Amino acid sequence: MKKHFAVAVDGPSGAGKSTLSRAVAKELGILYVDTGAIYRTVGYHTFSKGLSLDEAGEKVTSLLDEIHIEMRYGADGLQRMYLNGADVTDEIRLPQISMYASCVSALPEVRAFLLEMQRRLARENSVIMDGRDIGTVVLPDAEVKIFLTASAQVRAKRRCAELEARGTSEPYEEVLRQIEQRDYNDTHRAAAPLRKADDAVTVDTTKLTFEESRDAIICVIRERIGK
Ligand code: DC
Repeated sequence: MKKHFAVAVDGPSGAGKSTLSRAVAKELGILYVDTGAIYRTVGYHTFSKGLSLDEAGEKVTSLLDEIHIEMRYGADGLQRMYLNGADVTDEIRLPQISMYASCVSALPEVRAFLLEMQRRLARENSVIMDGRDIGTVVLPDAEVKIFLTASAQVRAKRRCAELEARGTSEPYEEVLRQIEQRDYNDTHRAAAPLRKADDAVTVDTTKLTFEESRDAIICVIRERIGK
């Protein structure tokens, strides 16, 4: 029998994957793995080298040798990202890094480079892992798969509130445009595009509160693995 179980949570940007997965991890006492943060760390590396978005896409493959990524968990259970030894947890959340992450994540070489790191975490721990291709590529045998979604407008509103709370407000129209652009990039790329796994359960949070969404996810998990 397997020692650990895995919950794969996929869906578009801003559907609430990370906040909800973190809350569910806490409730079930399992590890939360935010895979977007890993792609953001690679994107941040290209950004910090002064590359434009186009250059980042062209050059990132040749830069992989100089990228060493580590994930560490603090006493608070929160995931921190280290790039070549430096803590970049806060920097990777800067709004401009989202597009860099989306751009570098389209390259198969980048995805292959990060695959084993994600699988190892799931071998060594019970996890709830969120991303775009967790149920389809990274953990195709995950015991539970959830496809978390919400309308682009609601996702943009939530992202605006989040940015405001962080003191980096951006206009709603611009946030919506970026969300739609990233949806397009993430679903149309050739390498591991965002798509619902055939055996995933869809949870649409457009009309749900945070608590309702969390409970809906926990309910799916309990049904599947009896936790
Ligand atoms: O979830 P996020 O917004 O932090 O992710 C940043 C980008 O990384 C997003 O545009 C898509 C990409 N990504 C991916 O391609 N595969 C994943 N498993 C997670 C994120």
